Amino acid sequence: MKKTTQSCFLLIILLTRIVPSLSSAVNYTDPTLEPVVTENSVIRQKIIDSQFKCYERMNRAPPYKKKGLFCNRTWDGWLCWDDTPAGRLTAQNCPDYFPDFDPTERASKYCDETGNWFRHPESNRTWSNYTLCNSFTSEKLKMAFILYYMAIVGHALSITSLLISLAIFFYFKSLSCQRITLHKNLFFSYVLNSMFTIAHLIAVVPNPGLVKRDPVSCKVLQFFHQYMLGCNYFWMLCEGIYLHTLIVVAVFAEEQRLHWYYLLGWGFPLVPASIHAVARARYFNDNCWMSVDTHLLYIVHGPVMAALLVNFFFLLNIVRVLVTKLRDTHRAESNMYMKAVRATLILVPLLGIQFVIIPWRPENRLAGEIYDYIMHILMHYQGLLVATIFCFFNGEVQGALKRQWAQYKTQWGQRRREHCSTRSTSYTATSITEVPVYLYHHDANNEHLNGRYAEDSELVALKSGDTSA
Ligand SMILES: *[C@@H]1O[C@H](CO)[C@@H](O)[C@H](O)[C@H]1NC(C)=O
Ligand SMILES: *[C@@H]1O[C@H](CO)[C@@H](O)[C@H](O)[C@H]1NC(C)=O
Ligand SMILES: *[C@@H]1O[C@H](CO)[C@@H](O)[C@H](O)[C@H]1NC(C)=O
Ligand SMILES: *[C@@H]1O[C@H](CO)[C@@H](O)[C@H](O)[C@H]1NC(C)=O
Repeated sequence: MKKTTQSCFLLIILLTRIVPSLSSAVNYTDPTLEPVVTENSVIRQKIIDSQFKCYERMNRAPPYKKKGLFCNRTWDGWLCWDDTPAGRLTAQNCPDYFPDFDPTERASKYCDETGNWFRHPESNRTWSNYTLCNSFTSEKLKMAFILYYMAIVGHALSITSLLISLAIFFYFKSLSCQRITLHKNLFFSYVLNSMFTIAHLIAVVPNPGLVKRDPVSCKVLQFFHQYMLGCNYFWMLCEGIYLHTLIVVAVFAEEQRLHWYYLLGWGFPLVPASIHAVARARYFNDNCWMSVDTHLLYIVHGPVMAALLVNFFFLLNIVRVLVTKLRDTHRAESNMYMKAVRATLILVPLLGIQFVIIPWRPENRLAGEIYDYIMHILMHYQGLLVATIFCFFNGEVQGALKRQWAQYKTQWGQRRREHCSTRSTSYTATSITEVPVYLYHHDANNEHLNGRYAEDSELVALKSGDTSA
């Protein structure tokens, strides 16, 4: 099961496996019992290894005990087949010798009623049915290309939206508070992650020549890629811990020291990424560390999953506290924090679900495709999702933007009036954004803020507080 599920983890892997075959049109001959002669020495070696294992297995297995006719165990040149009762179709997964053979498909062999392996009518030679192994390759290849471009577009969109969000956070000084600082770091880790992923997708994946040369740089890229993956989830954890400390531990305390968060968010993920790199170099040193077919990946994914789980329980605890303790007091803060928690609470399971559903790729072909699309959206559009929920849907940010817009309109209108009346009133626009933080009235729309009402919005500004997420 391990093998099949992991080979589905990234269809990109399929892409890298298939692309070389397109250039070198493999010509299949039926599996043969004669010594294998294939140009590619790697393939030849794989087949010889399997053959050796097969003969060992045939010698070791106990003789056939059941009554009735049966087909003798055999090596057909590609795969090993056990003793099979007469009249039975036996099947196993396709071999992975050839780039366009899909190991998740099934090869079959029929044992006829007389206890002889099926012979192909044309050649009159015993014949195993490998047609399914590569019959859907072209469709799969097409889909792999779609997913490949989808991934690139997703990361490009993520980078764009994250950079816009970061610009907003840096431009509006009114937004600067500790929670926003955490957001900035989270977004920054997402930007870096997307950049490394795009570099990997563009430079390494469609480039089998590079993978074959296996330069150190592509392993370094992979290392940073995994480090950034860790950073993403540990900054998510930081957001959770921050809220938890704020709300549950020190009820609505104002300032926290952030350097522990920096250590956890940027420092800690170095540990699993480094351990993985060392272990990979020693025990599973495949080209460019592209393969996902190794348990060593759990060194990186394990802490990430742990972080998600811990975060989830933190958030549940926060909700419990907010609901029980603060229901009666009706404190304005509790409502505000509830919004922050809700945003985080939506995101954490969304970001974590891809790790949970990995083992359940449906066998059905259509369902499998849908699964692949969902997985890719979850994996490659995360940055966009995070920017949307933490920035664009953030009431505070929307408020700041609306105020800025209203201010522009006022200034522009003022300037035009000045121009028309040639009256030089020294218009001093009181920068609304200088006042620390506003509790922004959401029902105050642009029309209301327009013109002379702009100043009124300052009256709306209440005490400092952390509005929604
Ligand atoms: C594949 O093999 C068949 C039979 O051996 C041969 O007739 C055909 O020309 C080959 N095709 C290619 C592309 O080499
Ligand atoms: C089955 O194979 C074994 C060894 O491969 C051989 O000793 C045995 O005679 C074969 N049995 C039949 C029924 O062909
Ligand atoms: C196929 O081969 C088997 C054994 O080699 C032989 O007994 C049989 O007569 C052949 N059948 C045909 C149709 O040539
Ligand atoms: C091989 O398997 C496929 C799919 O199950 C089937 O459609 C095809 O008829 C089989 N070929 C032969 C020669 O039995």
